[in-house]
Amino acid sequence: MIYYFSGTGNSRYVAEQLGKELTEEVAFMSLENAGELRGNSIGLVFPVYSWGVPPIVLDFIAKFPQNLLDEARRRGTPLWAVMTCGDEVALAPEMLEKALEKRGVYSESVWSVIMPNNYVLLPGFDVDPKDVEQEKLKAAPARISEIAEGIRKHRLVVDVTRGKKVWLKTKTVYPLFKKWGISPKRWRSTEACVGCGICARSCPVGNIRMNEETRRPEWGDNCTSCVGCFHSCPRHAVEYGNMTKSKGQYYLKN
Ligand SMILES: Cc1cc2nc3c(=O)[nH]c(=O)nc-3n(C[C@H](O)[C@H](O)[C@H](O)COP(=O)(O)O)c2cc1C
Ligand code: SF4
Ligand code: SF4
Repeated sequence: MIYYFSGTGNSRYVAEQLGKELTEEVAFMSLENAGELRGNSIGLVFPVYSWGVPPIVLDFIAKFPQNLLDEARRRGTPLWAVMTCGDEVALAPEMLEKALEKRGVYSESVWSVIMPNNYVLLPGFDVDPKDVEQEKLKAAPARISEIAEGIRKHRLVVDVTRGKKVWLKTKTVYPLFKKWGISPKRWRSTEACVGCGICARSCPVGNIRMNEETRRPEWGDNCTSCVGCFHSCPRHAVEYGNMTKSKGQYYLKN
C-alpha cells in the first residue's frame, strides 16, 4: 500500500507511477485509509518541506495504527519512502528515520525524485522557468522506474540528492519554517476570483470553504502550506499576503 501526501500533484504522480510499477494500491495519506495492511510493502510518498518532512506527514507516522505496524513486522512487510523535491532534501531522511524509530519501525530504503518547484511563499522563491520544469518532468519517469527496481530488489539504501549545508538547512531553517512558515491567516482571493471553487476542491486537508453568499473562498486555520490553492486557481486569484504577487503557477494534473 502506498500512502501519499501532495499539494500540487508531484507526489501524487510519483505515487501513482510507483503503484503501477509495483502493483501496489495507492491512497491519500489519511488514517481513514490505514484500516488494514494490504499489499507487499508500506510506501510513503511526500514532498520535502524546508529540507525536512512536512509536519502533516510526521503526524500521520505518529498516529499510524500500532496493530498494523506490528502486523507488518510479523509478516516482514518492508517500509520505504520517496521524497519529491524541487532541488534537494538535506537531512530529511534522518528526520523521517527518527519519526519511524519512535514507532519501532525503520525504512528499508529512502529515495528522492527531483520534480518542478512549487514553493512561492518567501521572497526569492518562485516556480522553475518552463524549460527547467519540462526537463524535470522528462527525467522523472526513468528515476521512478529506477526507484521501483530498487524497491523490488529490497535494496537497503538512502539514495537522495542532499545538497550543501545540510545541517544548517534541516536543523536550523526547518524549525523556523515549522514555527513561522505555516500561516493560514495570510491567504486571500483577489477581485479576479470567479467563484469556481477549484481552490477549495484542491485543498488536501479541506481547509477552504466557499462562502455561498459572496461566492469567494474562505481559509480556515488548518493550512499545511502545501500551496495547492495558489497553484490550482485558473484565474491566478489566490494570494498569500504580498508574497505571491507576480509569482508563477505550477500544478501537475494527472
Ligand atoms: C512549504 C514548502 C517547502 C518546500 N521546501 C523545499 C525544500 O526544502 N527543498 C526542495 O527541494 N523543495 C522544496 N519545496 C518544493 C517541493 O518539495 C516540490 O516542489 C515537491 O515536488 C512538491 O510536491 P507536491 O506537488 O506533491 O506537493 C517546498 C515546497 C513547499 C510547499
Ligand atoms: S480557484 Fe480561484 S477563481 Fe476559483 S474560487 Fe478559488 S480563488 Fe476564486
Ligand atoms: S489552504 Fe493551505 S493546505 Fe489548503 S491548499 Fe491552500 S496551502 Fe494547501
